[in-house]
Amino acid sequence: MQFFIDTANLDEIKEAQALGVLDGVTTNPTLMMKDGVSGDENQRQRYLDICEVVEGDVSAEVIATDFEGIIKEGEQLAALHPQIVVKVPMIKDGIKALKYFSDKGIKTNCTLVFSPGQALLAAKAGATYVSPFIGRIDDTTIDGAELIAQIRHIFDNYGFETQILAASIRNPMHIIKCAEFGADVATCPLSAILGLMKHPLTDIGLAQFIADYKKVNSVTA
Ligand code: G3P
Repeated sequence: MQFFIDTANLDEIKEAQALGVLDGVTTNPTLMMKDGVSGDENQRQRYLDICEVVEGDVSAEVIATDFEGIIKEGEQLAALHPQIVVKVPMIKDGIKALKYFSDKGIKTNCTLVFSPGQALLAAKAGATYVSPFIGRIDDTTIDGAELIAQIRHIFDNYGFETQILAASIRNPMHIIKCAEFGADVATCPLSAILGLMKHPLTDIGLAQFIADYKKVNSVTA
């Protein structure tokens, strides 16, 4: 399972990269706004800065919603850096664009996916990644992780190579559920990744080991 970080914040990306477990980055216009990155030029520079920090795929989202606009923007984004993956919304012109990019060998991430049918269409169109938003489904009192299981089942039935990139992850439990249900990638806030390592028994056990070591060894520090 690959770990991506879902942020445009360079410090968070660097911290995750330093852990040695980071495989890529996803961004979106909201994450850019949250990090105060405004204007096309600054946003392009931010994508380049992110590509300097990580070795894997970096999703950059188009704003256009018509076919020609998506193609123009997507080709510009893809030309920025070989690590850039063009993020395309799950709309009719988006599906056409996914097919166009797929035929051209440009990597894509189909975003805002909330149903198995949407995921199936994206896979048929040749998307590299499909992004089901599990946290936002949870917000509607439906278990979002179940969607990962459904998409996994469908993709495995037919051998689709589109990777399931679980998005809108909010906590460590989401990551575990995605791993259980076979997501290829989880894109997470840094807090959710760091949350995976926390367990009170680890802290208690470590404190005990250190205390016992000190009982039989002279420690100056
Ligand atoms: O990966 C999509 C993500 O950024 C959306 O997360 O928490 O706004 O649903 P959230």
